[in-house]
Amino acid sequence: MSAPAPYDAIILGAGGAGLMCAAVASQRGRRVLVLDHAPEPGRKILISGGGRCNFTNVGAAPDRYLSANPHFARSALARYTPRDFLDLVEKHHIAWHEKTLGQLFCDGSARQIVAMLLAECAGATVRCDCPIRAVEHDGTRFRISAGEREVEAPALVIATGGPSIPKLGATGFAYDLAKRFGLKLVEPRPALVPLTLGGDEALFRSLSGVATPVEARAGGAAFREAALFTHKGMSGPAILQVSSYWRHGEAVAIDFLPDTRPGWLRDAKRQRPRARLPAILAESLPARLADALAERIALPAELGNSSDKVLDAAERRLADWTFRPSGTEGFAKAEVTVGGISTAELSQKTMEARKVPGLYAIGEAVDVTGWLGGYNFQWAWASGVAAGQAL
Ligand code: FDA
Repeated sequence: MSAPAPYDAIILGAGGAGLMCAAVASQRGRRVLVLDHAPEPGRKILISGGGRCNFTNVGAAPDRYLSANPHFARSALARYTPRDFLDLVEKHHIAWHEKTLGQLFCDGSARQIVAMLLAECAGATVRCDCPIRAVEHDGTRFRISAGEREVEAPALVIATGGPSIPKLGATGFAYDLAKRFGLKLVEPRPALVPLTLGGDEALFRSLSGVATPVEARAGGAAFREAALFTHKGMSGPAILQVSSYWRHGEAVAIDFLPDTRPGWLRDAKRQRPRARLPAILAESLPARLADALAERIALPAELGNSSDKVLDAAERRLADWTFRPSGTEGFAKAEVTVGGISTAELSQKTMEARKVPGLYAIGEAVDVTGWLGGYNFQWAWASGVAAGQAL
């Protein structure tokens, strides 16, 4: 076996966080090796944002992230902002545009972002197709057996992400490694994931394919975006967002008409007493959904036949349609993972483990999870930079 190569740092994982960390550290003159078991770097970047990579969000403030310690991400996010990443994108002449809600995308392809990161990593060595066979630590140096090689360095960065979408090479490797080094985990759960419906709620499955703007609420959070009915339950941005806050057994509430004002159904009765609820609802909702909701509310045929009290109750039901999902579509369909390596174990400035000097954790592997819309990549970049500046 060849003699260990002289590296200052080994980064496990060539995703957004690992590549950004390698770029920053190598540009500071550190000798950096990045190892990944996948055949190519940045696979999640490549498929993100429908192939155009929603690479950041102009509103990436700490309150848009979930973590057992909501303050942890503050320092890294403040030191590497969406504007900083945009400067990099512009330096590489990548055309971009802003979509709704502050989301920034490439005009062309997510491949440009991976190419940009690899160009920034020109001073580092990036090796793919390299399964990690063993990680040893003698107290000062980390020794890694990867593929046919043995390499060692005084610093090791865990950047292998979370277990979302295993078919892209995602694993729980970061957690196994963290546990081996005595670092605590916050229970990982699938997030930004479609919810499944069972029992009574399963009736909604007949609406598969219908989408409508709603306000969805769960676990103290509320999001106004589109919801989509699927053959398994519900998806769409509003549902994906609340899924990160939802816990098994809890209820999700939907306001199907978030733009109406209280008393709108009484007003409708005064103006059109002969109108029926499905027709009234179909003025604001897709007809199939209007029919399904009206069927469940089951008012007497014409609005004029219902008392104001009954109409108020119908209005409240439409504004607070509560159901208990049977579960989620799991890590196979989750865009990210909530939970992971506990932030209590890490320095918020450098991402270094307090108990194990030289060991760092960044990106999705850590218990910091962003909303949908470019927030997760911003955390990958920012935490990668924080560690890259400390290595
Ligand atoms: P990431 O998972 O990207 O990288 C980890 C790397 O480690 C991978 O290359 C993997 O192969 C490697 N690895 C894993 N286990 C290993 C092992 N045992 N040995 C060696 N290597 C190993 N976010 C956003 O902000 N905007 C968006 O548009 C999207 N879109 C999107 C779409 C889809 C379909 C998904 C699944 C996710 C998104 N995301 C997103 C989320 C975003 O992709 C995610 O938060 C980041 O990629 C996390 O970056 P990391 O570098 O931490 O992990």
